[in-house]
Amino acid sequence: MEQTQTAQAPLSEALKSHTSGTHERLDRRIMEFEPFGAIERYLPFLRMQLRLNYATASLYQREQLKQWLPDLEQRGRLEPILQDCADLSLPDEQIECDRQQAADSHPISDAEAIGWLYAHQGSSLGAAILLRHAKKDLGLSEEKGARHLAGHADGRGRHWLNFKQQLDALPLSDEQRGEAMKGAENALAFVFANAETLMPLEL
Ligand code: HEM
Repeated sequence: MEQTQTAQAPLSEALKSHTSGTHERLDRRIMEFEPFGAIERYLPFLRMQLRLNYATASLYQREQLKQWLPDLEQRGRLEPILQDCADLSLPDEQIECDRQQAADSHPISDAEAIGWLYAHQGSSLGAAILLRHAKKDLGLSEEKGARHLAGHADGRGRHWLNFKQQLDALPLSDEQRGEAMKGAENALAFVFANAETLMPLEL
């Protein structure tokens, strides 16, 4: 049965197959808004990303998670995105609003948090494409306005592979794996809901 196979798959693969449909819908929804069509359209996209970064920031400091994932603290991206907001003069009230919007979305358990971290770390893969658009269409860069989309110095692929290997070595029970799936799905749903709010499509 499919459920049994998913339970036996490495955690990173199970997370990917569990969320691929939701990811595809999210990807399509974001691009439909044309966030690179003008700087005014990029700003709401940046705020959507800011909310995800605020929602996950505290997870990078959790003790159990740091024990499970040794380089976790270096993987957070709140600082670069706040610098992007400053580069583009995003008003303080909007930044504060985004911080508050993200405050209620904290996952309950460490296992669920793993799913959120999977979604947040994985988003740096698609960011390669988004960074190319930000550069070409808007003249932004890893030094101005699009810092949060930059790859890691080790290379995006290698950094991601390393993270997946850490996930696959986690000592999670079946129940905890289920929570991790729920966390990843909730993270994507959180971003989708914020895309709907911040990036409305014209009629
Ligand atoms: C328009 C926006 C986005 C585009 C175009 C996009 C595109 C992509 C692409 C092309 C990949 C695969 C890269 C590869 O395998 O080398 C990917 C992976 C991923 N993206 Fe996105 N993405 C977008 C937004 C997001 C967001 C907002 C999130 C998180 C909330 C996210 C989460 C992930 C995850 C978790 C993976 C890794 C899947 C896996 O291999 O396990 N993406 N994305």
